[in-house]
Amino acid sequence: MKSSVPVLVITNRKGGAGKTTVSVNVAAEFVALGKRVLLIDLDSQGHCAVGLGVKVGSKQSTIHDIFTLSDLSIHDAVCETTIPNLFLLPANPAFQHHKSGNDNQCLVRLLADESIATQFDVVIIDTPPSLDNLLLNALCAATWVLVPYVPHPLSFEGVRQLVRILFNVISEQNPKLKILGFLPVMTTSKVRQHRQVSEQVTKQFGALRVLNGIRTDIKLAEAFAANKPVRFYAPKSRGAEDFAQLATTLLELMTNLD
Ligand SMILES: Nc1ncnc2c1ncn2[C@@H]1O[C@H](COP(=O)(O)OP(=O)(O)OP(=O)(O)O)[C@@H](O)[C@H]1O
Ligand SMILES: [Mg+2]
Repeated sequence: MKSSVPVLVITNRKGGAGKTTVSVNVAAEFVALGKRVLLIDLDSQGHCAVGLGVKVGSKQSTIHDIFTLSDLSIHDAVCETTIPNLFLLPANPAFQHHKSGNDNQCLVRLLADESIATQFDVVIIDTPPSLDNLLLNALCAATWVLVPYVPHPLSFEGVRQLVRILFNVISEQNPKLKILGFLPVMTTSKVRQHRQVSEQVTKQFGALRVLNGIRTDIKLAEAFAANKPVRFYAPKSRGAEDFAQLATTLLELMTNLD
């Protein structure tokens, strides 16, 4: 049987929900656990390159170029990072998301290339804070979806709307897609509202699906500004501890729920 690479999509339509921080740090933690990781930055803000310290030159092909120029393959656009075994497919900051077309199977075809499964153990996709064709491409190609959310009152409704979209994609386009979990980020146990929102999510989607959160830690924001995953910037920080634990949990879930 043709092997395919597991694809983990990090998504939440809400801006600033921690998607890129989670994508970059989970990617680095997976590598530390022995995986070869390809991180695809579907968001034209291009923040994954910033978080990994990758300078994207003007001649560098991007994932967005692949979408618009059909003769490019993923291999034409993959960049090395300073971290061995962590590769980035960068974004094109000039890409206009409203011009993302209506072919939602483009990523499915690109990732079906068997050489991707030979070269990488897992693909992580960071997504834009919008419901556009790029997000649909990611969801159609996904094996797993991880939903980070900041536990404040507006988030719950946003997560519910997203889950409706996920169920639509599962029933109509990608039956193999599974929700890996909901991840509270920037949590502070002292804030009652945070606990209440996570309780709502747990009640709606089940305790097993709500993962241990990533606590608020300024080191995570500083690491991003220093262009490094937190495990290299502040290895003893709360953020580094939380991401190491999260990555182990995710790999266990991806193995056990497969
Ligand atoms: N656990 C955390 N503790 C402190 N700051 C955090 C934490 N997680 C993320 N941040 C900060 O919150 C901001 C938003 O995070 P991030 O860019 O990861 O969100 P996003 O969902 O990717 O945003 P966008 O929707 O714009 O792509 C960033 O400044 C980031 O450094
Ligand atoms: Mg982002």
